[in-house]
Order: sequence, then structure tokens, then C-alpha cells
Amino acid sequence: MRTLLDGTNITIGTCYYPEHWDKSIWEKDLSRMKQAGIQAVRIAEFAWSKIEPREGEFTYEFFDEFLDLALEKGIWVIFSTPTATPPAWLTDEYPEVLNATVDGEKIHHGSRRHYNYNSKIYREFVSRIVEKSASHYAGHPAVIGWQIDNEFNCENSMFYSESDTVAFREFLKEKYGTVEKLNQAWGTVFWNQTYTAWREVYVPRRTNTMAVNPHLMLDYIRFISHSVRSFAKMQADILRKYTKPGDFITTNGMFGHIDNHAMTSESLDFYTYDSYPNFGYSVDGFWLDEPMKDRWSSRSLAEVRSISPQFGIMEQQSGANGWNVSMEAPTPRPGQITLWTMQSIAHGADYISYFRWRTCTFGTEMYWHGILDYSGRENRRLREICEIQKKIENLQELAGAKYDARVAIVRDYDNLWDAELDHWHGRIDRKSQDSLFIAMQQLHVPFDYINLPAKESESGAEGQKISDDHEIVKKLSHYDVLFYPHPEILTKRQITILEQYVAAGGKLVFGCRTGQKDIRGICVTEYLPGLAAELTGTDVCEYSLVAPDDGEIYVDWDGTTFTAPVFNDLLAAVGGNAEVLATYKSSYYAGTPALVRNRYGKGEAYYFGAAFAADTAKVFLQKLSVAEPWQEVISMPEGCELAVRRKDGITYFFVLNYLADHAEIKIEPSMVELISGQQAQGTQQIEGYGVRVYKMS
Ligand code: GAL
Repeated sequence: MRTLLDGTNITIGTCYYPEHWDKSIWEKDLSRMKQAGIQAVRIAEFAWSKIEPREGEFTYEFFDEFLDLALEKGIWVIFSTPTATPPAWLTDEYPEVLNATVDGEKIHHGSRRHYNYNSKIYREFVSRIVEKSASHYAGHPAVIGWQIDNEFNCENSMFYSESDTVAFREFLKEKYGTVEKLNQAWGTVFWNQTYTAWREVYVPRRTNTMAVNPHLMLDYIRFISHSVRSFAKMQADILRKYTKPGDFITTNGMFGHIDNHAMTSESLDFYTYDSYPNFGYSVDGFWLDEPMKDRWSSRSLAEVRSISPQFGIMEQQSGANGWNVSMEAPTPRPGQITLWTMQSIAHGADYISYFRWRTCTFGTEMYWHGILDYSGRENRRLREICEIQKKIENLQELAGAKYDARVAIVRDYDNLWDAELDHWHGRIDRKSQDSLFIAMQQLHVPFDYINLPAKESESGAEGQKISDDHEIVKKLSHYDVLFYPHPEILTKRQITILEQYVAAGGKLVFGCRTGQKDIRGICVTEYLPGLAAELTGTDVCEYSLVAPDDGEIYVDWDGTTFTAPVFNDLLAAVGGNAEVLATYKSSYYAGTPALVRNRYGKGEAYYFGAAFAADTAKVFLQKLSVAEPWQEVISMPEGCELAVRRKDGITYFFVLNYLADHAEIKIEPSMVELISGQQAQGTQQIEGYGVRVYKMS
């Protein structure tokens, strides 16, 4: 079957830029790709001028020639819409298409992603180029799918053009109806910000303190997400008129200020991720002292899996990075491209496309290396990719297998964005999200992220397909334990869903500051944790940021001591089903409850009064009996990741060794290791950067 992600195959590809090379080398490049096992190329995402070199003048020969050659060589093509880089003739003649700085000054042509999503003129040009490209190229037999634009919101996710202000007003009118309601929602009576007409409302502008009204900011980020989504949908709707049956529409990411879940369900067949595990690795020692390094990509892969259970990697790092001084990384060491490829596959990607075939000799990214260097000579990285392809051949049976996790972290976009704006929330959330990931990795707990939208329509979606509440409860019930670390914004919809999950037997853990704001980002006047009070049987009597002069704050849970970082809620248990499990041991609140458990229906809700450090998160995983869930079958040191995929009753264990040193693992009973085809049992050695895939029937 000529397609990707249909559950029948795991495929590799690469990103190719025919416009960067003399045509005379295309044929050789395509043949060499084929020999290496590369099956698909992604092209054209920055090539507007190759199709419309001047306004209204369309020419198709360049890509026709390439597509014909690709067909002849048996290489499939993912064609892109070129809207990430509007041409100079367009921005020069119609400068309103450009994005602007916060001061409203237009940014200039000369880099990429210089446009804004709301300019009517830009949307007209975009509709036309997409229509022209799709109507001409979609029918070509080499084309198997489409990428929309390239990396929405990469490099810049704030938009301040005049068109954005006009569209922001429309978005708010639709949402609030009247200026009076807007005033109420944004608390504009504070500092006399009250509006009397829509024309007084703008996207954020420079103010005296740069502390723009926080409720405006929250709506503004929702508005950016809405803008991206409608821009993507406009393109998807055009593409769908022309795509052949079985051809797909995707986009690649993932960047800020986009509700990717909603965008994917509205416009895409699946989402793809750009995975650069060594991104920014070496400059100022950025990652050198911390434990996760390239394992952080596993966290992004888990996020992508939440957006799109079936997903691919549109750009997988295959060389050194260099672009500007803040982003540099060395050439992948022998074995690392394999490790990173397997990391993507372990998390569920069935398509892996390397960025890029051959390193560009000019332009901003001339140090951003692909598989081949400038000369195109055969090299170690290409040889490694040929080997990867052979290994993947042995893994084909797990195409379409689902990632298997019994623990999930609940998230939602409103809190994600609120945490960007609210410094307390941000510090707390960053600490807990990082720590939970580290703890799950080191205790080998496969986990998923689950999106729990605050409201069906909050992000202003037209035609948004969010599964109904019943379906979400069903999805949650698959997990033994849920962490919802800090939903400061909490809505009735969310709490009702969570109550049903716990009542049916689930275990749910909240951290500090839960339930303290409503959907507008306004603090509630109910006793905290607000809407979560009943479910958690908890009363937050007082709270404080951890005072710097207190140093580390400790908590004791039945003789186990661990830390309670960043922020402390001082708790009391309320009602006959609630009990205090742990108390603070430090500061003036030593002896005060820090953790309450409430039995609710058949399950349990936990309220922990702080953020989670890695040691804290590990105690929770252990006490809730979800740490090392597979240790009877497969055990390994902290430096290895365990990922699990399942299909047709068969369990596949991926063991990924991120360290340069060898690792020792233990297996019981005997299982087949798929890459080597060998039977394995007992103690096994895995070389530095090595990967094993064991099959348990
Ligand atoms: C991605 C982008 C590519 C290229 C690559 C390396 O973010 O999609 O176009 O820029 O990074 O810089």
C-alpha cells in the first residue's frame, strides 16, 4: 500500500530540497535514497517562488520534473504548501501580510515565518497558491500526502499586526457579545482599564509596566491558537478537494500557543513531530549537568502521542546543529541516530523522516547538517541509516502497535497558557512537569499525557470535534493512576469527569494551587481547592511560596521523607473519608498536614500541598504501587528507558540505553530480541547507545 501510518509498515524517509541543488544530481540522490531504504521525501515547504515566481504567474514544470523522477525511482512524495515563507514580491507589494513587533512595527522579509495568520490579503494569496498547487500536483501518482505550511509558531508565537487586532476584536465579540461582558471577564475595573467600545481593544501593546491585563493575555493566547487553527483549516479544506483517496494531510510541530489536539481533529489525518534530541546541547553546557539530555525528546513524543495516537516524525535529527550561537550541537556519535530513531518508534512513530538528505551549502542553515555533508560523499551517518533500515525490517510486525501505559499525566491548554503568564503557576508547573517526567523515566514507568479540555468551546473552535465527556471518562478509566499536577484553572466539566474517574476506582493526585482560578483566570472566592474541595476532602487553610531562607522544605509520609518544593499549601482533612497522610517537617508550619487522601466511591483522590520534585514524584509512584511495573519481566538501570508497545495481545519492550557506557539488564522469561532475532534470557549486556526490542507473547 502506498501510504504511511496505516498500521502495516514502519517506513523511513528524508527531507529533500530540489530547489537547493542542480537538477543534474536529483536522479543520483533519489537512487541513493532508494538504496538506503528511504521510501519517501518531504518537499517544497519553502518553495513558493518555484510555483508562483511573480504575482499571478504560475509555473509547474520544476516540481513536475521532480515528481516524475521520484515516481520513476519509486520514491513517494509528501508535498507541502509553501505558506511558511511568502515571497518578496508579495511582502513588498502587500506589507500588511507581515507580522509586527509588540510596538506594531512591521518585521521584514529576509528570514522565515514572517507573515501573520489574519491578514485577509495573505489568506487570499494562500488560498490561491494552495488551490493551484493541490489542483496541479495532488493527482500525481508519486504524491502520497500533504504537509500544511511548516512548523506553525516556530520561532515566533506572538502576533501584533493590525490584522491581528481586527481579528482579535471579532474573536472577542463572538465570545463575549458585548463590551460590558468583556470588561467583566477581564476585570478591567482594576487600574481603570474599562472599555467603552470594541475599537479601544487591541492585541497586547507595550504598556508602562509590560504587565498587560492577565485575563486579556490569556484570551490573546487562545486567540493565537484560534488563528493558527483557522489558517490550517482553510488550507486543509482546499487540499481535501484534490487529494486522492488514501492520501493524507498533516503538519509538523510542535510549538507554543496552539491547541494541537483541536487542530489535528479539525484539519489533519495525523500529526507529525520534528525530533531533535540533541538540540542546543553543547552551548554554555546547557544540558551537560542534567540527567535527561536527549531523553527529553521522549517527553515531547509522549505529548505528540496524546495529540495523535498515530503519528510520524517529519524531521528526525541526523547531523550536527548550527544556526546561530544559541543552538549548536555536535555530530551524533556512532549509534545515536539509531538510538533516536528507535526512541521515536518506541513511542509510537511508524514513519521516521530524517532532516535532511544533504547539508545545504548556503543560507542560514549551512551548519545544520543532514545525513550527507556538502559533497554528498558516502559517510558514516548514511551507513548508519542503511543499518537502521535493516533493523526496522525486523520490527515490521509491530507497526500500528499502541503504546502501553497505566499512568497518565492530565494536561489542558488553559493551564499551560496560564502558567506562561502567571509566574507562581509557571514555577510550580515547570518543576512538577519536569520532575514527574524524570521520575517516570528513572523508575521505568511508561506514561501517557491526556488532554482534558476545560470546556467544549473554550478555544473558540468552529466545528471542533472534542470527544464527549463519557468518552473521556472511558479513556481515563484505562489508567490506574492519574497525576493532574496543578490545574489552577478548573472547570465544572473537568471536575465532573475526574469525579467519575475516581468514583469508578481510579487514583488521582493533585498538587498545590489546584482549583484556585476560573476559566477567565480570575481567582475564586470559595475555600480552596475550590471545585476540587469535595473530591479531595481537603481544605487549604493558608499558603505560601517557599521562603528562600527556609531552604528545602521536607515532608514525612509514614517515615519516608521527601521534599515539598516551590510552594506550600497548608492543609486540613475534611469529612469522614479524608485522612492526613503526611505533614510538613520544616518552617513555621512544621506539623501541618501536607498530604490528604480522600476515599471517594471506589477510588482515592490525593491532594499534595506542594510542587513535585523528582524525589517527591518517586515516592508517589512507589506508594501508589506503579513504580517499575515490569520489573518481574525486565529490569534495567536508570540510564535506560523502558517503552512498551502492544498489538494483538503481544507486548514489545524497547530498552534504550542513552549512555555511552554499556548497561546490564535482566530478562525473565526467555524472549526473542527482534533486532538480532536471537532468543534472550537472564543477564544481558547492552552497548553504549544500544537498543533492544523484546517480544513477549
Ligand atoms: C526545523 C525546521 C526545518 C529546519 C530544521 C533545522 O525546525 O522545520 O526547516 O529549520 O528545524 O533547523
